[in-house]
Amino acid sequence: MGWTLGNLKNNWNSFGCDVSEHLLLSTSEQLVSLGLRDLGYQYVVLDDCWQQESGRDKHGKLQPDPGKFPNGLRSILDRLHDQGLKFGMYSSAGEITCARFAGPLDHETDDAESFVSWGVDMLKYDSCYHMGRIGTPLISFNRFKTMSDALKATGRNILLNLCNWGEDFVHTWGMSIANSWRISGDIYDSFTRPDDLCGCHPNVLSDPYCIARGPIARIPGGWQDADMLAVGLGGMTDEEYRAHFALWAALKSPLFLGNDIRSMPPSALTIVNNPDILALSQDPHGRSITRVRRDTENIPRGRAVVFLNAGGADLDMTCSLAELFTAFGPGGAAPHVRSDWAVHDLWAHRMPEATAAAILAAATADERAALLKKADWYNATETPYAVGLRNEDPRLFREKIGVVEAGGVLRVSVKSHAARVFRLRRIAKAGEKLKPKSIDRVAKDELQRNKAC
Ligand code: GLA
Repeated sequence: MGWTLGNLKNNWNSFGCDVSEHLLLSTSEQLVSLGLRDLGYQYVVLDDCWQQESGRDKHGKLQPDPGKFPNGLRSILDRLHDQGLKFGMYSSAGEITCARFAGPLDHETDDAESFVSWGVDMLKYDSCYHMGRIGTPLISFNRFKTMSDALKATGRNILLNLCNWGEDFVHTWGMSIANSWRISGDIYDSFTRPDDLCGCHPNVLSDPYCIARGPIARIPGGWQDADMLAVGLGGMTDEEYRAHFALWAALKSPLFLGNDIRSMPPSALTIVNNPDILALSQDPHGRSITRVRRDTENIPRGRAVVFLNAGGADLDMTCSLAELFTAFGPGGAAPHVRSDWAVHDLWAHRMPEATAAAILAAATADERAALLKKADWYNATETPYAVGLRNEDPRLFREKIGVVEAGGVLRVSVKSHAARVFRLRRIAKAGEKLKPKSIDRVAKDELQRNKAC
């Protein structure tokens, strides 16, 4: 259980094929000094275009482009590992990758060994140029399984992130062979663009124009990947980016930053470094939120509630305790409904923009560290989110905005193209003592629940 994949920095959105040793090393320094590594952003992922254009070498091995990586990959990976970071690599279950570099199809064993020789910790495994081996779940499953088996056979612990855009019902088999799987097409830096690779489309199964059919599932311990984050790229408003970030966190999608963090605006930093939201992504339960009411798009799970207003006008939205806990007893019968609940607004306490601006402008890593310390910013390397949540660390619960009384309703106003995100905490009844569960207990309860599923 838990979120072992961590959060990721991925280069595709901002850089396309313009990758290099310098990009990886300067980005990794930023991840550390901006405090992002210590919030959980541990992986640096090199996307497509890292290989030499002439293809495999004379021994049939994949080779990095010597112009982009003059010192090879191993030395970069060693530097990243020394910084407490991990490294993700890209390839495709095809004859060539999407950007037309050599692909591992039918070379899986050799290529898995190359990845291991470089010290890779994660493989993003795409689906371009599949040579017709697609069309049914079993055909795709077998194609991806060959690499999964080859990685396993190396004996190194490598996370496998499938990238077949929801095709061939990957949500039904991805978990058997991989740690996460893409459920939709490539993300686009816009809140409203219609998308035919529409993993979230309400009529996904009946819509003939919907290519990818990877519905949002709540699978504990397997991560459905909604693609990397667009926060900071500039195509959405602040509210839209916050809604996007909160949904990705609550859906337990891997969080891959997709912007250039060496030149990010302070507002983007204050979105992606919000520990209250990150704790939603990293909680020890590892389950995605689910949608309980389509009309108002409330998406509660447990005690977290996300109100998403994707419409064109501001809305007053509601969610009753009876709805929120319907899984524990329909029609308000759940015992939870008889308690009062404190409501915490998880966006109420973003890092002030002035602090973020000072951190970004600081000349040295030491200055940045001092500013983060002064801001008393959360550090998940020191205190994992599971421990912070259990101990009710105030930095993960921030502003209490009110109480929903027993049997009551949470009412909020939500701007157009925005999401509001709350954590509800049960208030002890008179004479009752609420004891936090031990971490072991949390893990055991979760295991029990998963077995029951
Ligand atoms: C596909 C993937 C993207 C990116 C590119 C690289 O489009 O879906 O995320 O990896 O390939 O070529």
